[in-house]
Amino acid sequence: MRQQQYFDVLIIGSGAAGLSLALRLPVTLSIAVVSKGPLSEGSTLYAQGGISAVLDADDTLTSHITDTINAGAGLCKEHIVEQVVSEGADCIEWLRQLGVPFTQIDHSDGRRYHLTREGGHSHRRVVHAADATGRVLETTLEKLVRGRVNISVLEHLISIDLVTGHKLGNKDNRCHGAYLLDLKDGSVQAIAASTVVLATGGASKVYQYSSNPDVSTGDGIAIAWRAGCRVANMEFMQFHPTCLYHPQAKSFLITEAVRGEGGVLRLPTGAAFMKFYDPRAELAPRDVVARAIDHEMKRLGSDCVYLDISHKSKDFIVAHFPTVYQRCLEFGFDMANEPIPVVPAAHYTCGGIVTDHHGRTDLPGLYAIGETACTGLHGANRMASNSILECLAFAKIAASDIVSRSAEHVAALDIPAWDESRVTDSDEEVVVSHNWDELRHFMWDYVGIVRTNKRLERAKRRVDLLMNEIAEYYGNFRITNDLLELRNLATVADLIIRSAMKRKESRGLHYTLDYPQPNPALATDTVLTPKSEAGRDELTGSPFRLIQS
Ligand code: FAD
Ligand code: SIN
Repeated sequence: MRQQQYFDVLIIGSGAAGLSLALRLPVTLSIAVVSKGPLSEGSTLYAQGGISAVLDADDTLTSHITDTINAGAGLCKEHIVEQVVSEGADCIEWLRQLGVPFTQIDHSDGRRYHLTREGGHSHRRVVHAADATGRVLETTLEKLVRGRVNISVLEHLISIDLVTGHKLGNKDNRCHGAYLLDLKDGSVQAIAASTVVLATGGASKVYQYSSNPDVSTGDGIAIAWRAGCRVANMEFMQFHPTCLYHPQAKSFLITEAVRGEGGVLRLPTGAAFMKFYDPRAELAPRDVVARAIDHEMKRLGSDCVYLDISHKSKDFIVAHFPTVYQRCLEFGFDMANEPIPVVPAAHYTCGGIVTDHHGRTDLPGLYAIGETACTGLHGANRMASNSILECLAFAKIAASDIVSRSAEHVAALDIPAWDESRVTDSDEEVVVSHNWDELRHFMWDYVGIVRTNKRLERAKRRVDLLMNEIAEYYGNFRITNDLLELRNLATVADLIIRSAMKRKESRGLHYTLDYPQPNPALATDTVLTPKSEAGRDELTGSPFRLIQS
C-alpha cells in the first residue's frame, strides 16, 4: 500500500465532462484526473456529429428547448433543458478560445461555423470539426490539462469504489475519496479528496453490439449505487440507428449527419422506407429510426439495411465525412458510389446517477457529470449532439458550485488500507470472460430495442444468477480490471432490467410489445433507491473490503 494521496478535487473520468471540469476549476485547487485507460480513451474521442448550440441567426433557444423536450417524450426536466441549452453558445466560445478548430464556413473571425443537422433538430445547429469532432475536442483538452501544474494526471487506474463516512463507520455519510486499482502494477491505492466527481461515461458495453469504446462499462453508475445514491431512467438506453455492418468493424458509427446532409435509408431492394414510419423520415428522432430499422430487418429476415448518400458528389462526401469515408473504404465500401450496410447498436445511456441542477448527487461531496449522470436533460430519449453539450454545460455548472462551496471543504481523512488478506489469485479466469459474454448476449436479445414482459423476466433470472456468481468470485479472488468491469456491468444490467420492468408502457427509447402505447398517467421518472444500507456492498451484502485502522 502506497502512502495515501490527497487532492481538493478528485475527478474520475477524462472525457469531455472530466477534462472540461478540470480546466474550469481555478488553478489554486489541487486536482487529480483519473482514467482507467489512456487519458484520451472514452466515448468523447469517437464522437463524430458534433455539439448542438444555438448559433444561427434564424435559430432560437426556444426552438432548441422545444426540440429537446419533444425528443424526450414527456420526461425532460424543463428547467434543466433551459439551463443546459442556454449554456450552448458560451461553451462553444470557451472551446474556440481554448483552440478547438471547428469547421468554418469562412475564416473571417473564427466564429462563422458550419452547422450541420441531425435527427429531431428543427434547425441546423450542430457545430462540428468535420466528422471527427470528439477527437479534436478531446485532444485539445488533453493537451491543456497535461500542461496545468495544479492537475495530476493519473492514467491506467480504475476506480473500485468510493470511500464514504458510513463505510468508515462514521455518522456523517460524506464522500471522502476512492479506492483505485493501479492497472500497471496491481496495487490498490486510496485517494482522499474534499470533493469527488464521477465523470465515467456511459454503460452501452452492457450490450453485445455497441458503438462505444471498451471503457463504457457503467462503472460510475454502479459505484454511486453501491455508495447509496439513487439511479434513474435506466430503461432508456439509446440505440444508434446506423453503425457499419461488417464483422470486423466493431459497430463503427456512421454519423447521423450523413442523414442530416441527405443520406437515405434503403431496404436491400433499394426502396426507401423511413417515410412510411414518420413524416420526418431519416431525420426522425433516433428511437423512431432505430425501431423502424429493427422492424424491417426482422420482417425481411435481413442482416442489415443500407444508407445511401451516393447521390452527393465525392468531393462533398470526402469534405464532410473524411473519417467515415476512409473507414468505409477500408472495409471495401465506397460510399460515394454505393449504399453502405448499416445496423443499430447500443450507443448512449440516458439514465444514470440522479443529480440536481448543480451536478450534486445524493452523497455530500460527490458530484456526477456527463453521460454517467441523469440530470433530466434527455428524458426518455436524447436528441443527437445534446450529450457533449451536457458534458460541457455541467462541467461549468459543477465547477462554479464546487468553488462556491469551498468553505465546506473537509480535511483529508485517513483511509484504511485495502484488505487483500482473504483473497487469492483466481484460478478460473474463464468464469469472468464467460460471464462477460453471456451478460452482453442476453441483454442484446432480451432487453434490446423491442422488449416484452417475458424477455425481461428471462433476463432478470439470468442476471440474478450472474450477480451471485460474481459476488462469490469477488469475495474470493484478487481483483482485476475485467472482474471490476464485469461486476459493474452486472449491476447496471440489473438496474436496466428492473427499470424496464417497472415501466408498463412504451415511451421514448423503452418499447415493449406488451404495452405498445405511452400512458400519460405514467409520465414520471423511474427512480431506483439502493435498498441495502449505504456502506454495504450491493452484491455481496458484506462490508467494504477494508481493515479498520
Ligand atoms: P467519456 O468520454 O466516455 O469518458 C469516460 C471516462 O471515464 C474515460 O476517461 C474512462 O477511462 C473513465 N472511466 C470510466 N470508468 C472508470 C473507472 N472505474 N475508473 C477510472 N476511470 C474510469 N454525443 C454528441 O453530443 N455528439 C456526437 O457527435 C456524438 N457522437 C458519438 C459517437 C460515438 C461513436 C459515441 C460512442 C458517442 C457519441 N456521442 C456523441 C456521445 C458522447 O460522445 C458521449 O456521451 C460523451 O462524450 C460522454 O462524455 P463523458 O465525459 O461523460 O464520458
Ligand atoms: C452521430 O454523429 O450520429 C452521433 C451524434 C450523437 O450521438 O449525438
